Amino acid sequence: MTDVVLITGAGIGIGRAAALAFAAAGHHVVVTDVLEPEGRAVVAEIAAAGGRAEFHRLDVRSTEAADALVADIEARHGRIDIIVANAGIAHKVPLSELSDDKWDHTLDIDLKGIFRVIRPALPGMKARRKGAIVALSSIMGVAYGWDEHVHYSAAKAGVVGLVRGLGVELARDGIRVNGVAPGYIRTAQLLSKEHSVGPDADKCGEYIPMGRIGEPEDIADVILFLASDAARYMTGQVVVVDGGLLVGRY
Ligand SMILES: NC(=O)c1ccc[n+]([C@@H]2O[C@H](COP(=O)([O-])OP(=O)(O)OC[C@H]3O[C@@H](n4cnc5c(N)ncnc54)[C@H](O)[C@@H]3O)[C@@H](O)[C@H]2O)c1
Repeated sequence: MTDVVLITGAGIGIGRAAALAFAAAGHHVVVTDVLEPEGRAVVAEIAAAGGRAEFHRLDVRSTEAADALVADIEARHGRIDIIVANAGIAHKVPLSELSDDKWDHTLDIDLKGIFRVIRPALPGMKARRKGAIVALSSIMGVAYGWDEHVHYSAAKAGVVGLVRGLGVELARDGIRVNGVAPGYIRTAQLLSKEHSVGPDADKCGEYIPMGRIGEPEDIADVILFLASDAARYMTGQVVVVDGGLLVGRY
C-alpha cells in the first residue's frame, strides 16, 4: 500500500535522498523545506521518474505552520503514515560566543523542530494504529562531543532521548519511533568550511574503516528500512550509520 510520507528539510542533502528513496519505493512524498526552489526541484525530479510528491514550505520553528500542514495533509490524503524529521543545522560557535539566542536557535530546529512535526500527527496515527517516525541524530550526539558545536551535540543527544521516550509511550498505539545517527555524510552541512569539515571532506575517509565518507543515499536507505515493515519489531533505537567510524577508532 502507498504510504503518505512527510519529510522535513527535504530540498537538499539527506532529506532529498530520503524523498527520492521513498518515492522510488512507491510512496507519496510530502517534500518540505525552507528552501523552496530546491524543494520544488525534488518534487519535479520525483514526478519525472514517475513518482508522486508535493512541496510545501515548512519552517520547523513554527508550531502553527507544522500544525496547519499536518491538518492539510490529513484533510487531502486522509492520513500521514511516516514522518522523517530530518531538518537540521550545525552552526560552529565557540563557547565564548554561545549566547542564549544561538543556543536556542539550534535547539529550536534540531530538537524541538522534530517534536513539532510529530506532535500534530499523533492523534491520526493513534486512531489508525499505524505510524513510523524516523528522526535524525548524529554521531556527535550519540558518542562524540564536537568542539565549538556544543549546542549541536546537546540537541542531537536530545534526539536520542526523544526517540526513546516517544518509542515507549507510543508503542501500544502501533507507532514506532527510531532514529539514525549519521557519521560523515557528503552534504552541504559537512562541506561547509565555515561550520564543519569543508570541501576536502573526502580526507576523512582516511580514518573511516570503510575508507570513504558516506553519501546521502547511504543514510536514506536506512531511513527507508526503519520506516518499513521490515523494522516492525524495532522502536526507540538510534542506529549509527558511519562506515565503521565509531567502532573502528581506538
Ligand atoms: N551531513 C552529515 O555529515 C550529518 C551527520 C550527522 C547528522 N546529520 C543530520 O542530518 C540531517 C540532514 O542534514 P544534511 O547533512 O542533509 O544537511 P543539509 O544542510 O544538506 O540539509 C539540511 C536541511 O534542513 C533544512 N533546514 C534547516 N533549517 C530548517 C528549518 N528551520 N525548517 C525547515 N528546514 C530547515 C535545510 O534547508 C536543508 O534542506 C540534519 O539533521 C543533520 O544534523 C548530518
